Amino acid sequence: MDINTENLKAEMVAEINQAADIKALEELRVAILGKKGKITEMMKTLGSLPQEEKIALGKNLNILKTEVEKALNAQKSALETKELNARLASETIDVTLPVRPEQQGRLHPISQIYEEVVAIFGQMGFEVAEGPDIEDQFHNFNALNMPANHPARQMQDTFYIPNPDSTDFDDSFVVRTHTSPVQIRTMEKNKLPIRVVAPGRTYRSDYDATHTPMFHQIEGLVIDTDTTMAHLKGCLYDFIKAFFEVDEIPVRYRPSFFPFTEPSAEMDIGCLKTKNELKVGAGTDWLEVLGCGMVHPNVLRAGGIDPDKYQGFAFGLGLDRLAMLKYGIPDLRTFFESDVRWLKHYGFVPLDMASMTGGLSNNGGAAR
Ligand code: DAH
Repeated sequence: MDINTENLKAEMVAEINQAADIKALEELRVAILGKKGKITEMMKTLGSLPQEEKIALGKNLNILKTEVEKALNAQKSALETKELNARLASETIDVTLPVRPEQQGRLHPISQIYEEVVAIFGQMGFEVAEGPDIEDQFHNFNALNMPANHPARQMQDTFYIPNPDSTDFDDSFVVRTHTSPVQIRTMEKNKLPIRVVAPGRTYRSDYDATHTPMFHQIEGLVIDTDTTMAHLKGCLYDFIKAFFEVDEIPVRYRPSFFPFTEPSAEMDIGCLKTKNELKVGAGTDWLEVLGCGMVHPNVLRAGGIDPDKYQGFAFGLGLDRLAMLKYGIPDLRTFFESDVRWLKHYGFVPLDMASMTGGLSNNGGAAR
């Protein structure tokens, strides 16, 4: 048998080097080294050859097989590199392209409500006032006509903070239980008349579907020489209509008690409560939304204002509760879970700011 393995090697290596892709190369490997491949077939003939020829050809075929395997491996890695480079080239990202104008982030409903409420009162001529989250008992209680041991202090489950400079319990600080201390801080600034709202965080030891240890309130305070309860009613009526974005809404004031106002009232709005829904507006039911009243003379005095010359009204309401009502959010605790899916559902497009002229909530949230 006359087999020239050198020629065969040249032919096979040339073919291998011309394989255009991994698939063609694999077909070639099967055709040469597979069960019925050329070299395999030739190996099978060895048995029938005379001893000397068998040894010589066997040796050459083994060399051929090794060379062919080498060529196959080399071409395989060359093709793989080529394919990888082609893929990398086709998947290049141009990092200099401008970002896609998708708004991923959302404004939390609390931030939205904050903006809405400030937009409404801002248009009525109110300024935003601020006070510290950590308060002394004077501002949080005493100055608001709640001296030590006053029973009204029990109305609020207060978190106390020890005072490092005193062991006297009356000197301990509190995380403010309401935004009302900002009333005193504003009066202390000595600028009259006063027309402020003070939105912010408040704290009480309470936890269920409608209470969380940290929540938000907005306080309102108006003081002038001739401010009356009629002003209070008109102001809050305009506010509640603007807030719920309706032209009319039934409202009633119930007598109530707060130590810092006299008389005191709670404002209810008309609504319709069905099994699964609460609709604000005309209906047979009432829903309490805020506390208010005429500022108590003791409070004016504590703030350095002469109650014989000045009088005014105040109100306080829960922002979280308003957010739940307006946007139909059933559980307050979800506000503070930082779940981005929740935020995507209930959140607001951040660049559409709430405003009285541009619309309060027409930009997002569950009202979309
Ligand atoms: N501070 C009260 C509370 O947290 C709310 C409140 C009621 C504030 C009546 C007021 C007011 O200014 O006049 O429950």
